[in-house]
Amino acid sequence: MSLIEPHGGVLVQRQLTGQAREEALREAQSFRKIVISTWTISDLELIGVGVFSPLNGFVNQADWKSIIEEMHLSNGLVWTIPVTLPVEEHIAKAVKVGETVALVGEDGVIYGTLDVEEAYRVDKRVEAKGVYGTTDEEHPGVKRLLQQSPYHLAGPITLLNRKEPTEFAEFYLDPVETRAAFERRGWRTVVGFQTRNPVHRAHEYIQKSALEIVDGLFLNPLVGETKADDIPADVRMRSYRVLLDHYYPKDRVFLSVYPAAMRYAGPREAVFHALVRKNFGCTHFIVGRDHAGVGNYYGTYDAQHIFRNFRPEELGIQPLFFENSFYCEKCDGMASEKTCPHDAEYRYMLSGTKVRQILRSGQRPSPKFTRPEVAEVLVQGLAEVIPVG
Ligand code: ADX
Repeated sequence: MSLIEPHGGVLVQRQLTGQAREEALREAQSFRKIVISTWTISDLELIGVGVFSPLNGFVNQADWKSIIEEMHLSNGLVWTIPVTLPVEEHIAKAVKVGETVALVGEDGVIYGTLDVEEAYRVDKRVEAKGVYGTTDEEHPGVKRLLQQSPYHLAGPITLLNRKEPTEFAEFYLDPVETRAAFERRGWRTVVGFQTRNPVHRAHEYIQKSALEIVDGLFLNPLVGETKADDIPADVRMRSYRVLLDHYYPKDRVFLSVYPAAMRYAGPREAVFHALVRKNFGCTHFIVGRDHAGVGNYYGTYDAQHIFRNFRPEELGIQPLFFENSFYCEKCDGMASEKTCPHDAEYRYMLSGTKVRQILRSGQRPSPKFTRPEVAEVLVQGLAEVIPVG
C-alpha cells in the first residue's frame, strides 16, 4: 500500500543529524550570523523536515511574484503563501550571492544555515493585498508583514537545531513519522483537520461526518504563534486529549501538532493548510466556514471557493467542504444549513469571541456547544494563565 505522495513528489529532508550536524555546526561558527525571529525559526524547521515540501529553502523573487500573482511556484506547483526570510537592509546589501550564512535565534543558538542565492526587495503592500486581500493594518497577518523588513534572502537551507517543545513533546511528529503511523494503522484515506481553537461540538460534528467516509482523522492543531487573544496552545492540547478520551474511538484518530505560525490569510491559507496536511500524509482535508479567517475580512465560504482555481490533480489532496454547523433544538442534534430546516431561534451558535468571554468569566458554555469535559479543562486552563477579575 502506498500513501499519498508529498506535494511535488518528494518529501524534502534538509535536516542534518549526528556527525554531519556537528561538523556543520562547527563550520557555521565562522559564517556571518543573521538573527532570526521565532516565526522564522518555525518556518526553517518546517522546511527542514518537509512539512513545506517542495520548498527546500526561503523563496526567491521569481517564486514570491509567481505565488502572489498565480498562486503557483515558478515551477508550476500550487503554492499560495510566500515563505520568506526578511532581513535588515544593511544585511541584504552586505551578503554575497554564493555565501553561506548562519541563522541564529535570539538565544544565540544556530538553528540552521542558508546558501544565499539571492537578496531582493519586495513591495509589502503588494504582498499584503495578494496574500491577505487587504492592506488594512488591523489585520493581524498584514500588521506583522508591514512590521517586517522588505528585504529578503533566498536559497536552500540546512536545519541544524530545533526548538525543544516545553510540553507535549510526544505530539511533535515530522511528516515521515505521521506517514509511518498512518501506514501502521493501515489507513488508506486520512482526513486532516486544522484548528487554532478548542474542539467544540461543531468541529466534532464535521470531523465525525468526514470520519464516516475515510479511515482515519488526523487532528492537527496549529500550535505556533497566534494572536494574543486566541486560547493558548497548552490549554488547547489538554482539551483535545480529554475530548479524544471521551468521545472518539482511539483507533480512528491521530493527534499531533502543527508547529507553524498562524497567518490568518483565510482562503489562501486554507490551500496552504491542505498542502501541508498532504505532506503529513493526508488524502482529504476539512474546510469549514471561514477557515483561517479573522474579523470580517473574508466571506464565510471564500476559503472553499478558492479551491475552484485548481485542478484536483494539481492539489493531490481532496478538500471536504462543510457548511456552518450548530446544535438545533428542534432537530435535537447537530446539523447544518444543508440538513436543518428550522429557524435561527432553535440553533445554538456562539462566536469565538463570545466563547472566550464565557470561559474567561469562569462560566461553562452550554453542553450543546462544548462537551462538559472540554469546558472544564478550558475554564481551569484559562484561570491559570489569565486570572479572572
Ligand atoms: S482556523 O483558523 O484554524 O481555521 P478554527 O479552529 O475555528 O479556525 O476552525 C477549524 C476548522 O473548522 C476550519 O476548517 C473551520 O472552517 C471549521 N469550522 C469552525 N467552526 C465551524 C462551524 N461552526 N461550522 C463549520 N465549520 C467550522
